[in-house]
Amino acid sequence: MDKIKIVGGRRLQGTVRIGGAKNAALPALFASLLTSHPCRVVNMPRLRDTASALAALAEMGAETEADGRVCCANLRSRHAPYRLVKTMRASILALGPLTAKWGEARVALPGGCAIGARPVNEHLSGLAKLGADIRIEGGDVFAKAPSGGRLKGARILMDIPSVTGTENLMMAAALAEGETILENAAREPEVADLASMLTRMGARISGAGGGVIRIEGVRELGGASHRVIPDRIEAGTYLAATAACGGEALLRDAPAALMDSVLEKLRETGAEISVEAGEGGECDLRIRMHDVPRAVDATTGPHPGFPTDMQAQLVALNCAAEGGSAVTETVFENRFMHALELARMGADIQVHGNTAHIRGRGGR
Ligand code: UD1
Repeated sequence: MDKIKIVGGRRLQGTVRIGGAKNAALPALFASLLTSHPCRVVNMPRLRDTASALAALAEMGAETEADGRVCCANLRSRHAPYRLVKTMRASILALGPLTAKWGEARVALPGGCAIGARPVNEHLSGLAKLGADIRIEGGDVFAKAPSGGRLKGARILMDIPSVTGTENLMMAAALAEGETILENAAREPEVADLASMLTRMGARISGAGGGVIRIEGVRELGGASHRVIPDRIEAGTYLAATAACGGEALLRDAPAALMDSVLEKLRETGAEISVEAGEGGECDLRIRMHDVPRAVDATTGPHPGFPTDMQAQLVALNCAAEGGSAVTETVFENRFMHALELARMGADIQVHGNTAHIRGRGGR
């Protein structure tokens, strides 16, 4: 079996296969609400979040299997209750598909969240532009399609390129009447991956993965089996761990082409990273780290910038590195809970505003 082991005190060594991307699997699972035909999310990682998404779909009457199969033919409820939403914020992804396909939705608002306020105003104002009637009552969002039953295509300029916001609106627009143009859309690879699943279901989408997405609505969508992309954050996490501890690791099926900013940053620490041809069209990433890592500064940003989901891993790496560094978080307003925990473990780290200042231990 693939595994990465700790050898010689703290060095890492081994091989691991990268699983499917959680952030691609979640919207793909909720996309099954857009059709009465069976869908399958292949390569779905078995995690608490994907189990929660399947539970939310099952609660609405979908037939679900733990391997990512979902069929919404006999949906009896359009309600994602707080009990389920509070375990997974991405349940808001039910809102667009439910409204577009089933005419109405009731989805609990995620409420307070450990990494900042994380509002969903982009999701709601976009759906309103598509003609949905939106009301918030008792902590739940109620959305209703116009009287004819179908949403109407529109031009939507997003204030913030929200990832799940873009996905929610792209799913809703897929069944709307006429054309939707989403401007300032999120460019994360998981958005393009969802678009490829929707296209397989019969949607007409162009530009996903870029800042402007055009969607020509269709009346109906069919089922699809879709293999989600590998998880760039999981791959980045193994790379950061190996760069911090030293050693050598081979990551099979790693989405190297989606990881430029992370690979560049980790190479700056002194890690040797090479992309190798793997089996079945995916590539492998090999990392070798023989020295104590050099500390690196970084600022998170929307794709293709340095991902906020890799920020904590880079901070941890900098704690073990040689030299001082500053890591600035610009995507979320309060995402340094790990700094306190690292300080408890002996790290020299201070947070001022949205920047963590770290003095590395230099391998000591
Ligand atoms: C997704 C990812 C998450 C990642 C994040 C940023 C999934 C399931 N989760 O989360 O892992 O950390 O992208 O890459 O894909 N915002 C608003 N109004 C909105 C929506 C967002 O102000 O309507 C703000 C948020 O508070 C945050 C920023 O925009 O500060 C980015 O949030 P967003 O892109 O929506 O993140 P998620 O889609 O929730």
